[in-house]
Amino acid sequence: MARTELVENLNKALGYELAGVIQYSQHSYLVTGTDREVFKDWFRDMAEEAQGHAEVLGDKIVALGGVPTVEPAVIRQSVELKEMLKQDLELEREAIAAYMAAWAACDDNDLPQKFWLEGQIADEQMHIEELEKLTSERVAKAGSERIVLREVG
Ligand SMILES: [Fe+2]
Repeated sequence: MARTELVENLNKALGYELAGVIQYSQHSYLVTGTDREVFKDWFRDMAEEAQGHAEVLGDKIVALGGVPTVEPAVIRQSVELKEMLKQDLELEREAIAAYMAAWAACDDNDLPQKFWLEGQIADEQMHIEELEKLTSERVAKAGSERIVLREVG
């Protein structure tokens, strides 16, 4: 039944969000050096956002007649900023895959759930793009667009 598959995938997404709360918090505790000035708060903001997403998912799962999981997905740890960001990118990619599987499990005419999930997926995609920039996986391609550098002074 589609609803069971939907709840299963929402629970997978919840596991990734719960992992996100813990993983981003851990990264905020562990980041050191001058990077700490920026990334301590950045990781904490991401942990808060994951907590917000987890709450919405938990409420939604119950509304659909399911029981929200209390099991976080795999939590990755590192003391190196670059590795932390890579780990966070992996987690966000796993999360968006779960949200998209939930979207695919919706009945064709279940537009309210689909619209809600599309909003969540759009949020997750923004995180992925930001993390792809932070890890330099995503860069502007010089030469594909005309880039004008202005001289200062
Ligand atoms: Fe999220």
